Amino acid sequence: MLKRKCLVLGMSLMLASALYGCEQVDVPTISSVQSAQSVSSDAAAVIGDIPTVQSFSEEAVSSDDISRIVTAGINAPSAMNKQPWHFTVVTNKEVLQQIASDMSAGRPAGAPAGKPDDGDKKDKAPAPAPTGTGPKAGIADAPVAIVISCKEGSEFDAGLACESMSDMANVMGYGTKIVSSPTIVLNGEKKDEYKSILNIPDDQSAVAVLMVGHPADSIDTSSGATERNTYDDVVSLVD
Ligand SMILES: Cc1cc2nc3c(=O)[nH]c(=O)nc-3n(C[C@H](O)[C@H](O)[C@H](O)COP(=O)(O)O)c2cc1C
Repeated sequence: MLKRKCLVLGMSLMLASALYGCEQVDVPTISSVQSAQSVSSDAAAVIGDIPTVQSFSEEAVSSDDISRIVTAGINAPSAMNKQPWHFTVVTNKEVLQQIASDMSAGRPAGAPAGKPDDGDKKDKAPAPAPTGTGPKAGIADAPVAIVISCKEGSEFDAGLACESMSDMANVMGYGTKIVSSPTIVLNGEKKDEYKSILNIPDDQSAVAVLMVGHPADSIDTSSGATERNTYDDVVSLVD
């Protein structure tokens, strides 16, 4: 965890100097080229192993950082560049609590709150049990929740935008969690109310929520990482 924090801090400083120190146009020197290479390899290390954060601190995310994260979603690729999405940045705790409490109200008695993939439909086979057993962050547990909505049939594009925002947030040193379970409430019987509160376009529905914040210090986020299938299980080579 400490290693990850140092890596992210170093990388953030390099990114900050790369992004904010560019008012004057300099001829690239060998050292600036080397520094650019090390930024990209550090970013690769972060993006290659992004844990789902299950506990966020209460520290706010600055509006500049939120803008940079959302801009990564705006710049994501989409089929025929249709950009069929909308992003609603929610920092209002009351709104997040309202969604969380509507989710609890719809949960069968005794079902644990915030269970991974608790939005799964009843007729689906249950997901494999996660190896992490700690508490799971719900929608109201992060300082920022970005509701991603899209037109029907554009869920893949919206997923790419979501992942671009998550990658950017992690490269900047934040932690993230993607949840789809709130969409049951957001697209349910209170859909019109939530569309109005969240300014979701008429022709779109919520598809996922990206939670962003600082990982809580007390939590080793990577220890909660669930297992992955092996390379051989999921990759086919045709050569
Ligand atoms: C599309 C999508 C929907 C998800 N929905 C939920 C959810 O509703 N509730 C939840 O607790 N986690 C949800 N997750 C988080 C996954 O459970 C998590 O990414 C996965 O188990 C890997 O966890 P790890 O990063 O700790 O290994 C979702 C992730 C994705 C990509």
